[in-house]
Parts: sequence; structure tokens; C-alpha cells
Amino acid sequence: MSPESSAAGFRGTNPAIIEFLRQEHRNIEKLLLILERELSVFARGDRPDYEVIQAVIAYFVVYTDLYHHPPEDMIFETLKVRDSIAAATIGDIAADHRIGAERLHRVAQAIESVLADRDLLRQAVNDITRDFIEHERRHIAMEERDFFPAAVRALQAHDWTEIASRLNDQKDPLFSEGVEHRFEGVRRYILQLEREAEAERA
Ligand SMILES: [Fe+2]
Ligand SMILES: [Fe+2]
Repeated sequence: MSPESSAAGFRGTNPAIIEFLRQEHRNIEKLLLILERELSVFARGDRPDYEVIQAVIAYFVVYTDLYHHPPEDMIFETLKVRDSIAAATIGDIAADHRIGAERLHRVAQAIESVLADRDLLRQAVNDITRDFIEHERRHIAMEERDFFPAAVRALQAHDWTEIASRLNDQKDPLFSEGVEHRFEGVRRYILQLEREAEAERA
């Protein structure tokens, strides 16, 4: 990632934020793939690596709400002002995020139930998790196809500066290199766990 598009480069120009969010989508997709792989182990009746599953869930719980959604919500709020028709066509990004969080919560509960040996049909766990994965993928695809291009067309240079400064000006800036570094560490850790789980199964 170039310094321009790194988290620290957020103070800068518009494409840096969008580029950053797109890059984060690639990271999220990798984690969804891991979750999907573990789910297929579960679906065929074997024991998946629950440490991997719970690490992915924890990443989504913390990362998306604290880190990925705030800039998207801010961009969408501004898009509503700059091009209300485009915004209305896209729908409601913030509501999608809230519903996504509920879906994730259901996944977390389903996995907890399995681990606590509570009665929950294998098929139900499978359906709940698959539902989350599919909606996340569709949401990402929609953002990249409709939302980001509409925002790039409609927002003005000072809108991006304003959004960037709001993200950076918080007492604990979300978009600091330190925070990004920590999340990267967690992603690397999850990938490593998954490699080990796959090696054991092979
Ligand atoms: Fe989103
Ligand atoms: Fe997104």
C-alpha cells in the first residue's frame, strides 16, 4: 500500500479513503473465505477449528463496527446531501451495517451454542453462518459497484477532507498506523491458525 493510501494518509485527498476501504474489503473477503472453509468442515460432520471461527467472529465484531463502518456511514451521509437520488437508489448503508451486525451476532450465538453442547441443529448453524457470509459478500459487491463510484462522483474535495479530519480528530484516532498495525497482526494470526488447521486436516 502506498503511503498515500495508508491509514496515516487519510488526511489527504478523496481516493485515499475509498482505496483504503476497498483494500479492507479484500481483507474481509479473505476472512469470509476462511469462515466458509471452516463451515464446510462443520457441514460434512467433522469438527471445525473453533478457535479460527471465533477469531474471525471477534475480528468482525470489533473491526467492522469500530473501523470499517464509520467512514462508510460518514460518506453515505454526505452523499445524501450531495446527490439524494443516488443515495436513495443505493438504499441505506447504515441500516445495512446494523442488520449485518445482527446477522453476525446470530452467528456468534450459534457457535456458542454448539460449543456449550446446547441443542441446535447442524443445519441451523450452517444456514445462519452461510446467511452472514452471503450478505457480507453482497454488501461489499454493492458498495464497490454502486456506492463508492456514486460517492466519488458526488462528493467534493472538501467533503473528503472533512470526513478524513473527523476520523483523525477523535481523541483516540481510529485511523492511526498503530490501530491498522494491530488489526493486521490479528489477520496474520488468523491466517496462520487456519494454515495450521488445514495442515492438521490434510
Ligand atoms: Fe459497508
Ligand atoms: Fe464496506
